[in-house]
Amino acid sequence: MRKTGNGMSRRKKIYEGKAKIIYEGTEPGTVIQYFKDDATAFNAQKKAVIAGKGVLNNRISAHLMTKLEAMGIPTHFIRSINMREQLVRKVEIVPLEVVVRNIAAGSLCKRLGLPEGAVLGRPLVEYYFKNDALGDPMVSEEHIFTFGWADPYELDEMVSMAWRVNDYLTGMFSGIGLKLVDFKLEFGRLWGEHGELYIVLADEISPDNCRLWDATTGEKLDKDRFRFDLGDLVEGYQYIAQKLGLVPEGGIMKGGTVDEALAQDLSQIENELARERRLRDLKKGGKPRKN
Ligand SMILES: Nc1ncnc2c1ncn2[C@@H]1O[C@H](COP(=O)(O)OP(=O)(O)OP(=O)(O)O)[C@@H](O)[C@H]1O
Ligand SMILES: [Mg+2]
Repeated sequence: MRKTGNGMSRRKKIYEGKAKIIYEGTEPGTVIQYFKDDATAFNAQKKAVIAGKGVLNNRISAHLMTKLEAMGIPTHFIRSINMREQLVRKVEIVPLEVVVRNIAAGSLCKRLGLPEGAVLGRPLVEYYFKNDALGDPMVSEEHIFTFGWADPYELDEMVSMAWRVNDYLTGMFSGIGLKLVDFKLEFGRLWGEHGELYIVLADEISPDNCRLWDATTGEKLDKDRFRFDLGDLVEGYQYIAQKLGLVPEGGIMKGGTVDEALAQDLSQIENELARERRLRDLKKGGKPRKN
């Protein structure tokens, strides 16, 4: 692999987003997700570079995706490459953000005048159209079907997966003293050997797109720290990673920057289930859908 010591290389950049860069993968049908230290909020009106964020998100997302795969939820994650990068299956992203809420916070409170922290009678699933220029507007099923962003079969699959992800993650975080308030998921389409369609969990699951509160103190540990200047962002992310057993007690920072030696030392995460299950598809690359 053409790779230098810091994990950068001259491979082809496919897309640069706000939080990640997508590079061409090392195997057919794959891409590399590079986790940047850039933080943005309020549709990129607020921006900063926060040392350590990319490393922590890469690690937390790899861990959660692997756990979900083990629960029978198919994901795009294949394996971590280094402290900032992971190899994932290349998918066709469904242009929707699926949000699951357990407790009222953020835009839900604003929109409906709910007090922050109100426990919802049941988990609430919302859809947003992925479009930065429009500020990711909330949409209904009717919009999704009318504009063909997903068909009823696909949406059904995404919603049932979102519920299962919520059940699993809520329990898992509760076991380590954290409340999963809400989170955002993205899904992708993959085609099997015979042209069959799979919907898989894609993008990332990290404190950038989950709200996590300390169950005892109520302290906010997620990206709201950055949105509302509530405290050091990396401290919050690091606390979550420590609770998950992913980084040592002392953390991975040294004097305001990532302790490279320590971060490189963290064990690599591999999604063995995904490898076993779809190795053949992976080698052949996906079959695109005939429109
Ligand atoms: N497995 C995958 N295959 C292809 N694209 C992916 C995959 N996983 C995530 N993506 C896409 O890669 C991009 C990741 O970049 P990033 O999260 O920084 O984007 P962003 O600036 O937040 O913009 P967006 O609103 O598109 O998420 C996203 O557009 C995401 O949908
Ligand atoms: Mg994104």
